[in-house]
Amino acid sequence: MQILKSVNDLFGYIFYVCYIVLYYVSLKKCFLREGYSKAKLFFLALITNPFLMFLFSTIMSALIVYINEWAKLGFQNIDAMNNIPLDTDPVFSSIIILIGTIIFLLASFLISYLLGRSLKAYNKSMVMFVYVMFSVIIILIDNKNYDVSDDSEIFSKILSNFNNIACVIIMFLLYFFIMRALAKLSDRKRHVNWRMFLITPLMFIVVYSVLDFYTSQFCSVDANSVMHILSYMFFVLFIWAFYIIINNIKATDDAINAKEEVKILSVEVMEALAHTIDAKDEYTRGHSVRVAKYSRMLAEKLGLSSEECDNVYYMALLHDIGKIGVPNEIINSTSRLTDDEYAVIKTHPGLGYDILAEIKSRPDLSIGARWHHERYDGKGYPDGKKGEEIPFYARIIAVADSYDAMTSNRSYRNYMPQDKVRSEIENNSGTQFDPDVAKCMLSVIDQDVNYELHE
Ligand SMILES: [Fe+2]
Repeated sequence: MQILKSVNDLFGYIFYVCYIVLYYVSLKKCFLREGYSKAKLFFLALITNPFLMFLFSTIMSALIVYINEWAKLGFQNIDAMNNIPLDTDPVFSSIIILIGTIIFLLASFLISYLLGRSLKAYNKSMVMFVYVMFSVIIILIDNKNYDVSDDSEIFSKILSNFNNIACVIIMFLLYFFIMRALAKLSDRKRHVNWRMFLITPLMFIVVYSVLDFYTSQFCSVDANSVMHILSYMFFVLFIWAFYIIINNIKATDDAINAKEEVKILSVEVMEALAHTIDAKDEYTRGHSVRVAKYSRMLAEKLGLSSEECDNVYYMALLHDIGKIGVPNEIINSTSRLTDDEYAVIKTHPGLGYDILAEIKSRPDLSIGARWHHERYDGKGYPDGKKGEEIPFYARIIAVADSYDAMTSNRSYRNYMPQDKVRSEIENNSGTQFDPDVAKCMLSVIDQDVNYELHE
């Protein structure tokens, strides 16, 4: 018997030590921002600890019971306080416990909110979650029905041991399964809805309060003990369910990250390809990337969606990929091209189209390559398409391509002055260029007061 009492005391102490340590460590996970003071946080964690708040609210509710009893005695004298009967009305004490619990939880909410704000918590919802979960554990361990005195029944002592051990285990489960998983999610700066954090504690509190109320009606220690054992099981189930929810969010999160990684890789591969094309000609170095940049600016100005702007950017990056099939001597020729050489140059849109058509997952990528040398009046190549027949994206790239050609250095000239570029675009609007796109390009030029958009 003495051993059971000692084990009970031991687990009681273990519980309080673990409680303070795990509570502080959990709280620290909510303050990932740099520059927060650990000492200040520890101090605040000690004084705003749910355990202390619970003690305070217990004292307050006990006071209410005393004042109520005292009032019944008619405030005769102070000495009457000492003779207050201990067995109060079970319904009344249940209501008192319920009110105390609600006040305690509200205080937890309020203090967690204030602490989260004042210390600029990385994730305020998680601070609230930590408070409410640790409050729930304190409510669970608070069990006045077990008599652990030397002459108490062995059943009561075993239950009391079970109570302490279960709470220690639950705390560790809570920390290892939920706090760490949540902290990892927060690390990735993902926004997790604050309501989600309250699912577990609030649902549990409702189940617990209903069970507690009905078992206390029977006023039976056995019924109340069964209720407590059930509560632990429920609580572990809630932790497990919440763990599954978090894991699902993490899985979605990982899928989003993987998708982003693939996107970054694709863009990098496309940019590497664009550099390869440009490297063939020392005078067009950086041409593809600049055309892509200008095309995106035009697409944005034309009001296309961000996804469409990205598509224009990728198409423009690869618009000259067909030049890979054009001999270096022709591309790098400094003398005037012969008709035959020019005919070879004119094959690059078709070649580019054939190369990009191989990328089956993105068939639209080849559009820019094939039609960026078409003219609005139908005098372009390779297909002699006219006006709206030319895909819109290709009309955007055509303007960006010509703009970069004029604003880049060539073997025979430096980049052209801005006013000359402007008048070229204006004069060729409606003949070489789509008038809407040309108008957009003019407004880009007009906004570029210091003429920064050149090679
Ligand atoms: Fe081209």
